[in-house]
Amino acid sequence: MSTTHTVRFGLIGFGAWGKHHADAISKTPGASVVAIGAHSSASAAAAQEAYPAAKTYTDYAALLRDNDLDVVDIVLPSHLHHQVTLAALNSGRHVLLEKPMCLSLTDCDDLIRVANEKNRLLAIGHELRLSSLWGKVKELIDDGLVGTPQYVLVELSRNPYRQGADGWRYDIQRVGNWILEEPIHFFDLARWYLQGQGDPVSVYAVANSRQPDHPELQDNFSAIVKMGGGSYAVVSQTLSAFEHHQTVKVTGTRGALWASWSGAMDRTRHPTFSLKAFDGTELRTIPIEKLTGELFELEDQIAMVVRAVTAQQPLSCTGEDGRWSVAMCLAAQQSVESGFPVVFEKA
Ligand SMILES: NC(=O)c1ccc[n+]([C@@H]2O[C@H](COP(=O)([O-])OP(=O)(O)OC[C@H]3O[C@@H](n4cnc5c(N)ncnc54)[C@H](OP(=O)(O)O)[C@@H]3O)[C@@H](O)[C@H]2O)c1
Repeated sequence: MSTTHTVRFGLIGFGAWGKHHADAISKTPGASVVAIGAHSSASAAAAQEAYPAAKTYTDYAALLRDNDLDVVDIVLPSHLHHQVTLAALNSGRHVLLEKPMCLSLTDCDDLIRVANEKNRLLAIGHELRLSSLWGKVKELIDDGLVGTPQYVLVELSRNPYRQGADGWRYDIQRVGNWILEEPIHFFDLARWYLQGQGDPVSVYAVANSRQPDHPELQDNFSAIVKMGGGSYAVVSQTLSAFEHHQTVKVTGTRGALWASWSGAMDRTRHPTFSLKAFDGTELRTIPIEKLTGELFELEDQIAMVVRAVTAQQPLSCTGEDGRWSVAMCLAAQQSVESGFPVVFEKA
Protein backbone atom coordinates (compact mmCIF):
# COMPACT_ATOMS: atom_id res chain seq x y z
CA MET A 1 0.00 0.00 0.00
CA SER A 2 1.14 3.53 -0.72
CA THR A 3 2.02 5.67 2.30
CA THR A 4 -0.69 8.20 1.35
CA HIS A 5 -3.30 5.40 1.67
CA THR A 6 -4.50 6.04 -1.84
CA VAL A 7 -5.25 2.66 -3.38
CA ARG A 8 -3.29 2.59 -6.64
CA PHE A 9 -4.99 0.78 -9.49
CA GLY A 10 -3.38 -0.66 -12.60
CA LEU A 11 -6.11 -1.22 -15.16
CA ILE A 12 -5.56 -3.85 -17.85
CA GLY A 13 -7.98 -3.47 -20.75
CA PHE A 14 -9.09 -0.09 -22.00
CA GLY A 15 -12.02 -1.21 -24.16
CA ALA A 16 -15.72 -0.40 -23.90
CA TRP A 17 -16.10 -1.48 -20.26
CA GLY A 18 -12.48 -0.80 -19.25
CA LYS A 19 -12.98 2.90 -20.02
CA HIS A 20 -15.87 2.93 -17.54
CA HIS A 21 -13.64 1.24 -14.97
CA ALA A 22 -11.04 3.97 -15.45
CA ASP A 23 -13.73 6.62 -15.03
CA ALA A 24 -15.11 4.92 -11.91
CA ILE A 25 -11.65 4.59 -10.32
CA SER A 26 -10.83 8.22 -11.02
CA LYS A 27 -14.10 9.32 -9.37
CA THR A 28 -13.61 7.19 -6.25
CA PRO A 29 -12.18 8.92 -3.18
CA GLY A 30 -9.04 7.13 -2.03
CA ALA A 31 -8.39 5.49 -5.44
CA SER A 32 -6.29 6.49 -8.40
CA VAL A 33 -5.55 5.14 -11.87
CA VAL A 34 -1.79 4.83 -11.82
CA ALA A 35 -1.24 2.67 -14.89
CA ILE A 36 -3.23 1.45 -17.87
CA GLY A 37 -2.44 -1.63 -19.92
CA ALA A 38 -3.85 -1.31 -23.43
CA HIS A 39 -3.29 -3.53 -26.41
CA SER A 40 -3.40 -1.75 -29.74
CA SER A 41 -1.59 1.54 -30.21
CA ALA A 42 -5.01 3.15 -30.77
CA SER A 43 -6.30 2.17 -27.31
CA ALA A 44 -2.95 3.07 -25.73
CA ALA A 45 -3.19 6.54 -27.33
CA ALA A 46 -6.81 6.90 -26.13
CA ALA A 47 -5.75 5.92 -22.58
CA GLN A 48 -2.85 8.36 -22.64
CA GLU A 49 -5.07 11.19 -23.82
CA ALA A 50 -7.84 10.51 -21.29
CA TYR A 51 -5.48 9.85 -18.34
CA PRO A 52 -2.27 11.80 -19.00
CA ALA A 53 -1.07 11.29 -15.41
CA ALA A 54 -1.25 7.48 -15.73
CA LYS A 55 1.53 5.38 -17.19
CA THR A 56 0.44 3.53 -20.31
CA TYR A 57 1.75 0.08 -21.20
CA THR A 58 1.05 -1.98 -24.30
CA ASP A 59 2.29 -5.16 -22.62
CA TYR A 60 0.48 -6.27 -19.45
CA ALA A 61 3.61 -8.00 -18.16
CA ALA A 62 5.38 -4.61 -18.18
CA LEU A 63 2.50 -3.08 -16.23
CA LEU A 64 2.81 -5.84 -13.64
CA ARG A 65 6.51 -4.98 -13.17
CA ASP A 66 5.48 -1.44 -12.17
CA ASN A 67 6.18 -1.04 -8.44
CA ASP A 68 3.45 1.56 -7.84
CA LEU A 69 0.39 -0.70 -7.84
CA ASP A 70 -1.84 -2.09 -5.10
CA VAL A 71 -4.70 -3.49 -7.19
CA VAL A 72 -4.79 -4.81 -10.73
CA ASP A 73 -8.18 -4.36 -12.37
CA ILE A 74 -8.65 -6.80 -15.26
CA VAL A 75 -11.21 -5.90 -17.94
CA LEU A 76 -10.11 -8.07 -20.83
CA PRO A 77 -11.83 -10.42 -23.26
CA SER A 78 -12.91 -13.41 -21.20
CA HIS A 79 -10.43 -15.97 -22.60
CA LEU A 80 -7.57 -13.87 -21.16
CA HIS A 81 -8.95 -13.68 -17.60
CA HIS A 82 -7.12 -16.70 -16.24
CA GLN A 83 -3.70 -16.02 -17.73
CA VAL A 84 -3.57 -12.33 -16.81
CA THR A 85 -5.11 -12.74 -13.34
CA LEU A 86 -2.65 -15.49 -12.53
CA ALA A 87 0.23 -13.21 -13.48
CA ALA A 88 -1.26 -10.33 -11.48
CA LEU A 89 -1.70 -12.45 -8.34
CA ASN A 90 1.81 -13.85 -8.74
CA SER A 91 3.10 -10.28 -8.91
CA GLY A 92 1.68 -9.83 -5.39
CA ARG A 93 -1.27 -7.57 -6.24
CA HIS A 94 -4.89 -7.72 -5.21
CA VAL A 95 -7.15 -8.26 -8.20
CA LEU A 96 -10.52 -7.05 -9.33
CA LEU A 97 -11.46 -9.36 -12.19
CA GLU A 98 -14.42 -8.84 -14.45
CA LYS A 99 -16.96 -11.60 -14.86
CA PRO A 100 -16.95 -14.33 -16.05
CA MET A 101 -14.20 -15.29 -13.63
CA CYS A 102 -12.76 -17.82 -16.13
CA LEU A 103 -14.02 -20.05 -18.91
CA SER A 104 -13.38 -23.30 -17.01
CA LEU A 105 -13.71 -24.48 -13.42
CA THR A 106 -10.11 -25.71 -13.42
CA ASP A 107 -8.99 -22.17 -14.17
CA CYS A 108 -11.29 -20.73 -11.47
CA ASP A 109 -9.85 -23.19 -8.93
CA ASP A 110 -6.34 -22.24 -9.96
CA LEU A 111 -6.98 -18.54 -9.29
CA ILE A 112 -8.64 -19.22 -5.93
CA ARG A 113 -5.67 -21.36 -4.91
CA VAL A 114 -3.07 -18.79 -5.93
CA ALA A 115 -4.98 -15.89 -4.32
CA ASN A 116 -5.05 -17.88 -1.06
CA GLU A 117 -1.38 -18.84 -1.30
CA LYS A 118 -0.39 -15.23 -1.92
CA ASN A 119 -2.88 -13.91 0.63
CA ARG A 120 -4.30 -11.51 -1.96
CA LEU A 121 -7.90 -10.37 -2.48
CA LEU A 122 -9.63 -11.69 -5.56
CA ALA A 123 -12.83 -9.75 -6.28
CA ILE A 124 -15.14 -10.73 -9.14
CA GLY A 125 -17.19 -8.11 -10.98
CA HIS A 126 -20.74 -9.17 -10.20
CA GLU A 127 -21.75 -5.61 -9.49
CA LEU A 128 -25.54 -6.14 -9.44
CA ARG A 129 -25.18 -7.12 -5.80
CA LEU A 130 -24.31 -3.48 -5.08
CA SER A 131 -27.42 -2.04 -6.73
CA SER A 132 -29.84 0.04 -4.67
CA LEU A 133 -32.70 -1.74 -6.48
CA TRP A 134 -31.55 -5.37 -6.64
CA GLY A 135 -29.98 -4.93 -3.19
CA LYS A 136 -33.31 -3.68 -1.77
CA VAL A 137 -34.96 -6.85 -3.08
CA LYS A 138 -32.38 -8.86 -1.13
CA GLU A 139 -32.94 -6.77 2.00
CA LEU A 140 -36.72 -7.25 1.87
CA ILE A 141 -36.35 -11.01 1.35
CA ASP A 142 -33.95 -11.18 4.30
CA ASP A 143 -36.41 -9.11 6.39
CA GLY A 144 -39.00 -11.85 5.76
CA LEU A 145 -41.43 -9.77 3.68
CA VAL A 146 -42.25 -12.63 1.28
CA GLY A 147 -41.98 -15.36 3.91
CA THR A 148 -39.91 -18.27 2.64
CA PRO A 149 -38.91 -17.47 -0.96
CA GLN A 150 -40.16 -20.15 -3.34
CA TYR A 151 -39.73 -18.63 -6.78
CA VAL A 152 -37.28 -16.13 -8.28
CA LEU A 153 -37.46 -14.87 -11.86
CA VAL A 154 -34.61 -12.82 -13.29
CA GLU A 155 -35.41 -11.79 -16.84
CA LEU A 156 -33.69 -9.52 -19.34
CA SER A 157 -34.89 -8.33 -22.70
CA ARG A 158 -32.32 -6.31 -24.64
CA ASN A 159 -30.62 -5.42 -27.88
CA PRO A 160 -27.77 -7.61 -29.21
CA TYR A 161 -24.37 -7.80 -27.53
CA ARG A 162 -21.53 -5.55 -28.66
CA GLN A 163 -18.92 -7.24 -30.85
CA GLY A 164 -15.96 -6.45 -28.57
CA ALA A 165 -12.44 -5.66 -29.78
CA ASP A 166 -11.54 -7.81 -32.75
CA GLY A 167 -14.99 -9.46 -32.53
CA TRP A 168 -14.06 -11.60 -29.49
CA ARG A 169 -17.62 -11.65 -28.10
CA TYR A 170 -18.91 -13.39 -31.25
CA ASP A 171 -16.11 -15.99 -31.25
CA ILE A 172 -17.09 -18.97 -29.11
CA GLN A 173 -13.43 -19.85 -28.39
CA ARG A 174 -12.84 -16.47 -26.78
CA VAL A 175 -16.24 -15.79 -25.17
CA GLY A 176 -16.79 -19.36 -23.91
CA ASN A 177 -20.54 -19.13 -24.37
CA TRP A 178 -23.10 -16.35 -24.16
CA ILE A 179 -24.49 -17.60 -20.85
CA LEU A 180 -21.15 -16.51 -19.35
CA GLU A 181 -21.71 -13.00 -20.69
CA GLU A 182 -24.91 -11.76 -19.06
CA PRO A 183 -27.08 -14.57 -17.64
CA ILE A 184 -24.11 -15.21 -15.32
CA HIS A 185 -25.10 -12.07 -13.42
CA PHE A 186 -28.65 -13.38 -13.04
CA PHE A 187 -27.53 -16.75 -11.69
CA ASP A 188 -25.50 -14.80 -9.16
CA LEU A 189 -28.55 -12.69 -8.19
CA ALA A 190 -30.89 -15.69 -7.98
CA ARG A 191 -28.42 -17.53 -5.77
CA TRP A 192 -28.10 -14.47 -3.52
CA TYR A 193 -31.88 -14.16 -3.20
CA LEU A 194 -32.31 -17.86 -2.46
CA GLN A 195 -29.49 -18.00 0.08
CA GLY A 196 -30.55 -20.36 2.85
CA GLN A 197 -32.86 -22.36 0.54
CA GLY A 198 -30.39 -25.20 0.08
CA ASP A 199 -27.82 -25.95 -2.59
CA PRO A 200 -28.79 -26.22 -6.25
CA VAL A 201 -30.03 -29.68 -7.17
CA SER A 202 -30.31 -29.33 -10.94
CA VAL A 203 -30.40 -26.93 -13.88
CA TYR A 204 -32.38 -27.38 -17.05
CA ALA A 205 -31.83 -24.91 -19.89
CA VAL A 206 -32.93 -24.26 -23.45
CA ALA A 207 -31.61 -21.76 -25.97
CA ASN A 208 -31.77 -20.90 -29.62
CA SER A 209 -30.16 -18.60 -32.13
CA ARG A 210 -31.49 -16.45 -34.94
CA GLN A 211 -28.14 -16.70 -36.71
CA PRO A 212 -28.32 -19.83 -38.93
CA ASP A 213 -24.54 -19.94 -39.41
CA HIS A 214 -23.86 -19.54 -35.70
CA PRO A 215 -26.22 -21.72 -33.64
CA GLU A 216 -23.69 -21.56 -30.81
CA LEU A 217 -24.39 -17.83 -30.33
CA GLN A 218 -27.66 -18.08 -28.44
CA ASP A 219 -29.99 -15.09 -28.73
CA ASN A 220 -32.62 -16.60 -26.46
CA PHE A 221 -31.76 -18.48 -23.29
CA SER A 222 -33.86 -19.74 -20.38
CA ALA A 223 -32.91 -21.89 -17.42
CA ILE A 224 -34.62 -23.34 -14.37
CA VAL A 225 -32.46 -23.94 -11.31
CA LYS A 226 -34.00 -26.19 -8.66
CA MET A 227 -32.79 -25.70 -5.10
CA GLY A 228 -32.54 -28.37 -2.41
CA GLY A 229 -35.16 -26.71 -0.22
CA GLY A 230 -37.81 -26.92 -2.97
CA SER A 231 -37.59 -23.35 -4.26
CA TYR A 232 -36.50 -22.63 -7.81
CA ALA A 233 -35.19 -19.82 -9.98
CA VAL A 234 -35.89 -18.98 -13.60
CA VAL A 235 -33.20 -17.06 -15.47
CA SER A 236 -34.23 -15.88 -18.89
CA GLN A 237 -32.72 -13.58 -21.49
CA THR A 238 -33.37 -12.49 -25.04
CA LEU A 239 -30.95 -10.50 -27.17
CA SER A 240 -33.50 -10.23 -29.98
CA ALA A 241 -35.34 -7.30 -28.47
CA PHE A 242 -34.71 -3.59 -28.02
CA GLU A 243 -33.21 -1.29 -25.38
CA HIS A 244 -32.52 -2.86 -21.97
CA HIS A 245 -35.31 -4.06 -19.68
CA GLN A 246 -34.66 -6.22 -16.64
CA THR A 247 -37.25 -7.69 -14.30
CA VAL A 248 -36.98 -9.53 -11.01
CA LYS A 249 -39.98 -11.24 -9.44
CA VAL A 250 -39.82 -13.05 -6.14
CA THR A 251 -42.70 -14.86 -4.50
CA GLY A 252 -42.76 -16.62 -1.16
CA THR A 253 -45.04 -18.33 1.31
CA ARG A 254 -46.46 -14.92 2.31
CA GLY A 255 -45.76 -12.15 -0.15
CA ALA A 256 -44.22 -11.04 -3.42
CA LEU A 257 -41.74 -8.54 -4.90
CA TRP A 258 -41.60 -7.09 -8.37
CA ALA A 259 -38.61 -4.99 -9.41
CA SER A 260 -37.93 -3.61 -12.84
CA TRP A 261 -35.26 -1.52 -14.53
CA SER A 262 -35.40 0.03 -17.99
CA GLY A 263 -33.02 2.11 -20.04
CA ALA A 264 -32.46 3.03 -23.66
CA MET A 265 -29.27 0.97 -23.21
CA ASP A 266 -27.49 -0.89 -20.40
CA ARG A 267 -25.12 2.02 -19.75
CA THR A 268 -27.62 4.82 -19.40
CA ARG A 269 -27.34 7.29 -16.56
CA HIS A 270 -31.07 8.03 -16.95
CA PRO A 271 -32.88 4.76 -16.24
CA THR A 272 -36.39 4.24 -14.94
CA PHE A 273 -36.86 1.70 -12.20
CA SER A 274 -39.39 0.64 -9.61
CA LEU A 275 -40.02 -1.85 -6.84
CA LYS A 276 -43.39 -3.08 -5.62
CA ALA A 277 -43.74 -5.14 -2.48
CA PHE A 278 -46.72 -7.16 -1.31
CA ASP A 279 -46.47 -8.56 2.21
CA GLY A 280 -49.62 -10.66 1.87
CA THR A 281 -51.85 -7.81 3.04
CA GLU A 282 -50.67 -4.52 1.65
CA LEU A 283 -49.15 -3.60 -1.72
CA ARG A 284 -46.58 -0.80 -1.51
CA THR A 285 -44.28 0.98 -3.91
CA ILE A 286 -40.87 1.02 -2.28
CA PRO A 287 -38.91 4.23 -2.91
CA ILE A 288 -35.39 3.70 -4.26
CA GLU A 289 -33.51 6.92 -3.61
CA LYS A 290 -30.17 6.06 -5.18
CA LEU A 291 -29.84 5.78 -8.96
CA THR A 292 -29.19 2.24 -10.13
CA GLY A 293 -27.65 0.80 -13.29
CA GLU A 294 -24.33 -0.82 -14.13
CA LEU A 295 -22.44 2.48 -14.35
CA PHE A 296 -23.48 3.38 -10.80
CA GLU A 297 -22.81 -0.10 -9.47
CA LEU A 298 -19.37 -0.08 -11.09
CA GLU A 299 -18.49 3.01 -9.04
CA ASP A 300 -19.80 1.30 -5.90
CA GLN A 301 -17.75 -1.78 -6.79
CA ILE A 302 -14.52 0.22 -7.00
CA ALA A 303 -15.32 1.87 -3.65
CA MET A 304 -16.00 -1.59 -2.17
CA VAL A 305 -12.60 -2.84 -3.41
CA VAL A 306 -10.90 0.22 -1.89
CA ARG A 307 -12.55 -0.53 1.46
CA ALA A 308 -11.63 -4.21 1.22
CA VAL A 309 -7.98 -3.39 0.44
CA THR A 310 -7.86 -1.00 3.38
CA ALA A 311 -9.35 -3.81 5.51
CA GLN A 312 -12.60 -2.08 6.32
CA GLN A 313 -15.03 -4.45 4.61
CA PRO A 314 -15.21 -7.91 3.08
CA LEU A 315 -15.58 -8.30 -0.70
CA SER A 316 -19.15 -8.33 -2.00
CA CYS A 317 -18.26 -11.09 -4.47
CA THR A 318 -15.29 -13.41 -3.99
CA GLY A 319 -13.51 -15.92 -6.21
CA GLU A 320 -15.66 -18.67 -4.71
CA ASP A 321 -18.80 -16.73 -5.66
CA GLY A 322 -17.45 -16.14 -9.17
CA ARG A 323 -16.68 -19.84 -9.52
CA TRP A 324 -20.22 -20.80 -8.47
CA SER A 325 -21.71 -18.70 -11.24
CA VAL A 326 -19.27 -20.03 -13.85
CA ALA A 327 -20.22 -23.57 -12.76
CA MET A 328 -23.91 -22.76 -13.21
CA CYS A 329 -23.32 -21.32 -16.70
CA LEU A 330 -21.27 -24.32 -17.80
CA ALA A 331 -23.91 -26.72 -16.47
CA ALA A 332 -26.67 -24.73 -18.21
CA GLN A 333 -24.74 -24.91 -21.49
CA GLN A 334 -24.35 -28.67 -21.00
CA SER A 335 -28.12 -28.92 -20.51
CA VAL A 336 -28.79 -26.87 -23.66
CA GLU A 337 -26.56 -29.23 -25.64
CA SER A 338 -27.89 -32.48 -24.19
CA GLY A 339 -31.56 -31.51 -23.89
CA PHE A 340 -31.59 -32.92 -20.35
CA PRO A 341 -31.29 -31.41 -16.88
CA VAL A 342 -27.87 -31.45 -15.30
CA VAL A 343 -28.08 -32.85 -11.79
CA PHE A 344 -25.48 -31.64 -9.31
CA GLU A 345 -23.71 -34.01 -7.00
CA LYS A 346 -24.23 -33.36 -3.31
CA ALA A 347 -21.27 -31.42 -1.87
N1 LIG B 1 -19.68 -6.66 -15.12
C1 LIG B 1 -20.23 -6.17 -16.18
O1 LIG B 1 -21.36 -5.69 -16.12
C2 LIG B 1 -19.51 -6.19 -17.49
C3 LIG B 1 -19.94 -5.34 -18.53
C4 LIG B 1 -19.23 -5.38 -19.73
C5 LIG B 1 -18.15 -6.22 -19.90
N2 LIG B 1 -17.78 -7.04 -18.90
C6 LIG B 1 -16.63 -7.94 -19.06
O2 LIG B 1 -15.48 -7.14 -19.21
C7 LIG B 1 -14.56 -7.75 -20.10
C8 LIG B 1 -14.20 -6.78 -21.22
O3 LIG B 1 -15.37 -6.46 -21.96
P1 LIG B 1 -15.42 -5.19 -22.93
O4 LIG B 1 -16.83 -5.05 -23.34
O5 LIG B 1 -14.73 -4.02 -22.34
O6 LIG B 1 -14.59 -5.73 -24.17
P2 LIG B 1 -13.84 -4.84 -25.26
O7 LIG B 1 -14.58 -3.58 -25.53
O8 LIG B 1 -13.55 -5.76 -26.39
O9 LIG B 1 -12.49 -4.44 -24.54
C9 LIG B 1 -11.48 -5.38 -24.31
C10 LIG B 1 -10.16 -4.65 -24.36
O10 LIG B 1 -9.13 -5.57 -24.06
C11 LIG B 1 -8.02 -5.17 -24.82
N3 LIG B 1 -7.05 -6.25 -24.91
C12 LIG B 1 -7.08 -7.40 -25.60
N4 LIG B 1 -5.98 -8.12 -25.33
C13 LIG B 1 -5.23 -7.39 -24.47
C14 LIG B 1 -3.98 -7.56 -23.83
N5 LIG B 1 -3.27 -8.68 -24.01
N6 LIG B 1 -3.53 -6.58 -23.00
C15 LIG B 1 -4.24 -5.46 -22.79
N7 LIG B 1 -5.43 -5.23 -23.37
C16 LIG B 1 -5.92 -6.18 -24.19
C17 LIG B 1 -8.56 -4.76 -26.14
O11 LIG B 1 -7.60 -3.87 -26.69
P3 LIG B 1 -7.66 -3.26 -28.18
O12 LIG B 1 -8.91 -2.48 -28.26
O13 LIG B 1 -6.47 -2.41 -28.19
O14 LIG B 1 -7.60 -4.43 -29.09
C18 LIG B 1 -9.85 -4.06 -25.73
O15 LIG B 1 -9.66 -2.67 -25.59
C19 LIG B 1 -15.23 -9.04 -20.56
O16 LIG B 1 -14.79 -10.12 -19.79
C20 LIG B 1 -16.71 -8.81 -20.30
O17 LIG B 1 -17.42 -10.00 -20.06
C21 LIG B 1 -18.42 -7.02 -17.69
